[in-house]
Amino acid sequence: MESKTNDLLNLIRSRRSVRNFVYKKIDNQVIKEIIDCGRWAPSGRNNQPWKVQIVSHPTVKRMIAENTEYGGIIESAFLNLVVFLDLDRGYDRVKDILAMGAFIQNILLAVHAKGLGAVWIGEILKNKEKICEIFKFSPDKYELMGVITVGIIDESLEKKEERKRRPLDEFIDWY
Ligand SMILES: Cc1cc2nc3c(=O)[nH]c(=O)nc-3n(C[C@H](O)[C@H](O)[C@H](O)COP(=O)(O)O)c2cc1C
Repeated sequence: MESKTNDLLNLIRSRRSVRNFVYKKIDNQVIKEIIDCGRWAPSGRNNQPWKVQIVSHPTVKRMIAENTEYGGIIESAFLNLVVFLDLDRGYDRVKDILAMGAFIQNILLAVHAKGLGAVWIGEILKNKEKICEIFKFSPDKYELMGVITVGIIDESLEKKEERKRRPLDEFIDWY
């Protein structure tokens, strides 16, 4: 039990954004397993307001990539998960968006646990309506929350830069 707890804590601490990928297929079963971990995220009233478009087709990837300065990363990876908030399922904007953050973080951790790499692309939100058009989604029904670019890590290009975090004491108070 103790070692399982440590495994999880180490997994959380060692996850990092990966932006260099080797272009190689990821099996559908692995993709499903990763998204399944998203499903177990908490959500207000358990409303589970998520919707995911799984994209590996190069043409669709190109169309998405054109909407962000991080398009090169999107095209270089085998898989992109385009994550939307299903507004019809929503009940409270802040809480729905918080749930989407939990959903995406669960997916990022699952990717890491599988030995794959991912980065959450948020810069693309400036073009959220254009991304809706690609999938023929009404922006009144689905709101883009991010693109999760997933792939096999190119270890030769990934720099193991020191990851910086604010010290705990800077943002905690005890009562
Ligand atoms: C909401 C959000 C939006 C982000 N958008 C981008 C992005 O557009 N492009 C990018 O390269 N990284 C993006 N990131 C990744 C962050 O840059 C990264 O998480 C942060 O620098 C900490 O690094 P780490 O994930 O390696 O710990 C985003 C992360 C979050 C949570």
